[in-house]
Amino acid sequence: MSDINQILARYRVVPTVSVDKLEQAVPVAQALVAGGIPIAEVLFRSGVAGAAIRRIVTDVPGMLVGAGTVLNVAQVDEAIDAGAQFVVSPGIDHAIVKHCHKQGVLVIPGVMTPTEITIAIDLGLRLLKFFPAEAIGGKTLLRAISAPFSQIDFIPTGGIGPDNLSGYLESDCVLACGGSWMVRPDLVEAGRFEEIETLSRQSMSVVESLSR
Ligand code: 3PG
Repeated sequence: MSDINQILARYRVVPTVSVDKLEQAVPVAQALVAGGIPIAEVLFRSGVAGAAIRRIVTDVPGMLVGAGTVLNVAQVDEAIDAGAQFVVSPGIDHAIVKHCHKQGVLVIPGVMTPTEITIAIDLGLRLLKFFPAEAIGGKTLLRAISAPFSQIDFIPTGGIGPDNLSGYLESDCVLACGGSWMVRPDLVEAGRFEEIETLSRQSMSVVESLSR
């Protein structure tokens, strides 16, 4: 298992972080760390994503920082240059996967069908995002779809929160769950960073209750 896989397997949640203003990045990251989760997937959904990754990497040492919603090779380069250690995309883009492999960076594309999982295996991938998890059938679909692919680990993302987190984490094929429930846009916008810390701590309680 790679170092990154080990970190994901230990914390089992991947908070997705979307910031519109650069100055929000570090307080959000610090709140996640304070809540027990030293992981952030910064989404390329605003013009400051690359700069936010760079700032978190610089100012919050020890945090595992990745880039999410990566849609093209230029964003991969921007993310890696800023210090991102992994790249997540909503679907399989061959150019993105090949470029990440060339750069030696973990890439986690999204899949939702057996055909897409097969394509991902052909590209040499073993860790995939199951997206958008709840909308396409949730843990029931994941259990059924993962059965023939025992070599694949999944990170379900989309519609996951405190109420359904443990249901996903109980599946053997689930390495971790991704999502924005700890870093809700309204909390970020209002600067309510202590609530991000509380939600992170609650998520880690769920993870710890399962690993006992
Ligand atoms: C993503 O891009 O990974 C999702 O937007 C996260 O999904 P969520 O907001 O439903 O958690």
